[in-house]
Amino acid sequence: MLEAQLGTRSLVALLGDWRNSASGPSYLALFDRIRLLILDGRIPADTRLPAEREIAGALEVSRTMVTAAYRELREAGYTSVLRGSGSVTRLPGRGMGPTETAGSGLIDFTRATLPAAPGIMAATEAALGAYGRYLGGTGLHFAGIPELREAVAARFTARGLPTSADQILITNGAQHAIFLVSRVLLARGDRALVEQPSYPHASDALMLAGARLVPVSVTVGAGWDMAALETAIRRTSPTLGYLMPDFHNPTGESMPEELRERVIGLAHGQGTVLVIDETAGELNIDRPGNLRPFAAYADAAQRSNIITIGSVGKSVWDGLRVGWVRADAGIIQKLTAARPAGDFGTPVLEQLVVAELLADMDEILAARSVQLRTGRDHVLGVIAERFPEWTPGVPAGGIATWVNLGAAVSSQLTLAARSHGLLVTAGPRFGQGGTLERFIRVPISFPVAELDRGLAALALAWQSLPNGTLLQSQFFADVV
Ligand SMILES: Cc1ncc(COP(=O)(O)O)c(C=O)c1O
Repeated sequence: MLEAQLGTRSLVALLGDWRNSASGPSYLALFDRIRLLILDGRIPADTRLPAEREIAGALEVSRTMVTAAYRELREAGYTSVLRGSGSVTRLPGRGMGPTETAGSGLIDFTRATLPAAPGIMAATEAALGAYGRYLGGTGLHFAGIPELREAVAARFTARGLPTSADQILITNGAQHAIFLVSRVLLARGDRALVEQPSYPHASDALMLAGARLVPVSVTVGAGWDMAALETAIRRTSPTLGYLMPDFHNPTGESMPEELRERVIGLAHGQGTVLVIDETAGELNIDRPGNLRPFAAYADAAQRSNIITIGSVGKSVWDGLRVGWVRADAGIIQKLTAARPAGDFGTPVLEQLVVAELLADMDEILAARSVQLRTGRDHVLGVIAERFPEWTPGVPAGGIATWVNLGAAVSSQLTLAARSHGLLVTAGPRFGQGGTLERFIRVPISFPVAELDRGLAALALAWQSLPNGTLLQSQFFADVV
């Protein structure tokens, strides 16, 4: 196994304000923070940590302290020590990792998903009827089967963005689309504009493609920092800008219409391709007006600079793993040509199921809106009652609320939540450089009983934070 090396400077940035967030000995605070970074994927498995001596120097702490923290990591199974290689990260045994929740009894708030929409079984039965038509062929449709490409294009057209089937590529979910677009559009060292906070797996994909990220802040209530966005686009001429105008994950913000036109104009002027992630774009709770796709705000020339990504993951069910890219036919051809290096297409049956479901999308989305409103209002009610120090965002749509904890203790709260049986993602996972320690993302997408179980665990974790930490940490303002 080839290990990646994590640089000292990178680790220090990821650690952020690690000292402030825990009581007890410093080595345990350092251990805890590195452990969280490994658990939530900010330090991937098989990464070689910096040498103890270097990290002690950079943090201005004693070597003995770092040695003790590294020993804890090793004993708890978060690193192995390889001869000549130092400490290499790994995920500890079953039931500990964020993805190993099945059967573990843990409540998982790290993935804000919705239960499957009714109608999938009926759609699957109907799809089986059409399946036979495909069995005589190769089954390989790199850009997607014709009827789903048509159906996705028709839905864009109906929503106000005229689209033809050759402008659609079917993917294995939106994440796959983000990865493919990043791989094709970016070269090592290119700049990519991202929101801060942003959807972490998109940032991961952009960085894997070699991008240098240029973060621009989005805040609850105030939304996009337009001045910063303008400066970032003009000064850095990013190759690509990855944005979630509706509904931004994790804040739930929706970009005002006049801002959309300005962003489109700016990006077009600078030759920046906008990659617009509308995975949660139709999960409207109470945004007024109709939800036109972002690219509908652009004129024909500007539109050729916009790539729209979507999926049925949140609207229908994540288990379908079907998403799409909408772009100019030339870009679709490029993406299709690049695809076989990674995969040969999306399963035909799932595509047929989604083609069936798209016909009922308005009905499905109306039901989603009711579910999400119930979840949001419930979460906000519980927070007001049990966590008076917190200031949650009130999302007009989407799958989560972005909560300001009033103190820079998100990592510490996340670790405490783990010991109360709840997996939840710490704020810094959504940003760059160890910021966002005052925030946590709380899903609104689950049924009320599950939300309650998670919130009860969160309340226990909150109460378990050492007295004084909260007061003390008020003095450490976060960057965002
Ligand atoms: C903003 C955003 N983009 C993309 C994805 C990935 O979607 P999919 O499950 O369709 O791959 C998610 C999933 O949570 C998301 O929130």
